[in-house]
Amino acid sequence: MKEDIEYLKKYLHPGEDLSKAIKRLEQGEPVQYIVGDVNFYGNIIKVNNNVLIPRPETEELVEKTSVLIKELFSDNINILDIGTGSGCISIALKKIFPNSIVEGIDISEEALEIAKDNATENNVDINFYQSDIFSNINNKYDCIISNPPYLKEGDYIMDIVKNNEPHLALYAEEKGLYFYKIILKEANKYLRERFIIALEIGENQKEDILKIAEQYFPNANIISDKDLRKLDRFIFIIQK
Ligand SMILES: C[S@@+](CC[C@H](N)C(=O)[O-])C[C@H]1O[C@@H](n2cnc3c(N)ncnc32)[C@H](O)[C@@H]1O
Repeated sequence: MKEDIEYLKKYLHPGEDLSKAIKRLEQGEPVQYIVGDVNFYGNIIKVNNNVLIPRPETEELVEKTSVLIKELFSDNINILDIGTGSGCISIALKKIFPNSIVEGIDISEEALEIAKDNATENNVDINFYQSDIFSNINNKYDCIISNPPYLKEGDYIMDIVKNNEPHLALYAEEKGLYFYKIILKEANKYLRERFIIALEIGENQKEDILKIAEQYFPNANIISDKDLRKLDRFIFIIQK
């Protein structure tokens, strides 16, 4: 609580009422929703309870993916961000690769509104639109990136997350693997000849997702990677 009050003192926007903010904190609301934005990869990203609060691991996903993109491609590539939420991944990648074409999709209209606002505020041109995973996708991409919902019922989750962040952004069917199964099964139709698929995963999902990836991409280079806390949090599928 003390740390959160310090956070509010530091980040609450000028003119906002600190005592009202502390009351919201005491009622169990995350500081990021109270402040109304977060810094993600150097960009100010608006958040409310229609979008997941961007996490530091996702900044690592962006960083690692950008290194791979630089190795494999020039700047002007097509990128698809599945489950864009606040738009944080799309906006960070568009800033790193200004000549790329970035599309961000989400099933949630409310999340897409925030993502569009965030693109405007960050002065980047990104095509955000509604799609149920690939249902409205007609293009082909050099890079598909996703931090999809991956929790299964019964997974431990802090009350502050469970009570505030959208369950649509957190939980997935099939023991948390639903999105990985669909993305990996269908991705081939939406990829160019050379490609990168970059996935954030739950810390106990590596083996299951590697198996699915090997099934659909037997000839690609499949790599799992850890986050700064040494947890297995990323899978990359690379076709050179
Ligand atoms: C874990 S959040 C990630 C948000 C953001 N990309 C980030 O990393 O902070 C997953 C996102 O997937 C979206 N989502 C859930 N079901 C979906 C579906 N069937 N098709 C597309 N997006 C979906 C949620 O609305 C949510 O915004």
